[in-house]
Amino acid sequence: MGQPEQHGDIVIRPRTAHDVAAAGEVLREVFAIDGYPVEGVADPIAWLTPPRLVRAWVATEAASIVGHVSVSEISGDSVPLFPESTERASGEQSAVLERLFVSPAARGKQVGAQLVVAATEYAVETGVRLFLEVLAKDKAAIRLYERLGWTFIGAASHAYGNAERAESRWYRAP
Ligand SMILES: CC(C)(COP(=O)(O)OP(=O)(O)OC[C@H]1O[C@@H](n2cnc3c(N)ncnc32)[C@H](O)[C@@H]1OP(=O)(O)O)[C@@H](O)C(=O)NCCC(=O)NCCS
Repeated sequence: MGQPEQHGDIVIRPRTAHDVAAAGEVLREVFAIDGYPVEGVADPIAWLTPPRLVRAWVATEAASIVGHVSVSEISGDSVPLFPESTERASGEQSAVLERLFVSPAARGKQVGAQLVVAATEYAVETGVRLFLEVLAKDKAAIRLYERLGWTFIGAASHAYGNAERAESRWYRAP
C-alpha cells in the first residue's frame, strides 16, 4: 500500500485496529440521520469487522475519523447473477465494496468519493473485480457511484432484520 492520499485537510489511509471504535461512533451518527445501515447499529464493532473483511480505509480530518469504507470477499451468492456480472461465475476474483459512510458534518467535500477511489484503486492493483449493493433509498450514495462511473447491473431486494426487505441496486466498478 502506498502513501495515504491527501486532499486538503482530508487524509485517506488504511484502517487500523485502533480506528474501529471511533468509526463505530461515526456510524451511530450516520444511522441516526440516514437510517444506514438498515440492520441498525446495535453492535457497530461487529458490523465493521465482518469475517469476510479483506481491507478497510478511514478518512480523517484534523486527526478525527470522518469516513469509512471496506472491501470484503463475496459470500456465497451475495451478488445476484445479473447478465453483466456473469464473469464472476467464470472464476474471476471478485469482491464487494461496502460499509461506506461519511460523518454528516463532513459531507459534500468529496470524502465519500475519495474513499471509493481508494478502494477501487486497491481492487485494480490486486486484480479484483469490485461490486456493490446500495439501497434504492440511499440517493446520495447512488449519485456518488454513478458520478464515479460505476455501472448499474440490476435491481434486487436486500434481506435484513426479521424477514424485512428493501429495494436495492447492484453496481460493478468502472
Ligand atoms: C453517500 C455518502 C458516503 C457520500 O459522502 P460525501 O462525502 O458527502 O460524498 P461526496 O462529497 O463525494 O458526494 C456525495 C454526493 O452527495 C451529495 N450530498 C449529500 N449530502 C450532502 C451535503 N450535506 N452537502 C453537500 N452535498 C451533499 C453531493 O451533492 C454529492 O453528489 P454530487 O456531487 O453528484 O451532487 C454519505 O452521504 C453517507 O454517508 N450517506 C449515508 C450512508 C450511505 O448511504 N452509504 C452508502 C452505502 S451503499
